[in-house]
Amino acid sequence: MKRIVISAALAGIAAGCAGPAAHQDATATAVLEPRSGSNVRGTVTFTQAGADIVRVSGELSGHTKGPKGFHIHEKGDCSDAQAMSAGGHFNPGGHKHGGPYEPQRHAGDLGNINFNDQGVAKFNFVVGGISVSSKADGVIGRSVVVHAAADDLKTDPTGNSGGRVACGVIR
Ligand code: CU
Ligand code: ZN
Repeated sequence: MKRIVISAALAGIAAGCAGPAAHQDATATAVLEPRSGSNVRGTVTFTQAGADIVRVSGELSGHTKGPKGFHIHEKGDCSDAQAMSAGGHFNPGGHKHGGPYEPQRHAGDLGNINFNDQGVAKFNFVVGGISVSSKADGVIGRSVVVHAAADDLKTDPTGNSGGRVACGVIR
């Protein structure tokens, strides 16, 4: 009986980590706090869902209704009152700004998230071009920014989405 229990425990460890090359279950989280005088706050979680697929999920509140620009920015520094310290869009490939599912995009271009009548946005989607790691395409140590207005998914390099109303470092 004791031997069976030990085997089950070892199987659990093996299933929990597929080895250093895979990291299929790596996760990272950003806790976003208000910037630029807003009340926007919440949590965003990144989960590695495949070799080049990351699931982005979470909930934000305190914004006005409608689609709002949502990006990973280059620097993990939200200290500035307008979050300008977060730098530009995370762009390890040296591309132009675009939408999350367009071939030409910054890796950090996550498009828009939609806030409802109550000013709440719940989201859960997958994107490519990033990883939950500290590698060149990795999001750990960078930041998530929510903007005042919608991202037009084309204006380079910002998407013309206005001020930075919430920011959180990805850890
Ligand atoms: Cu942004
Ligand atoms: Zn961009």
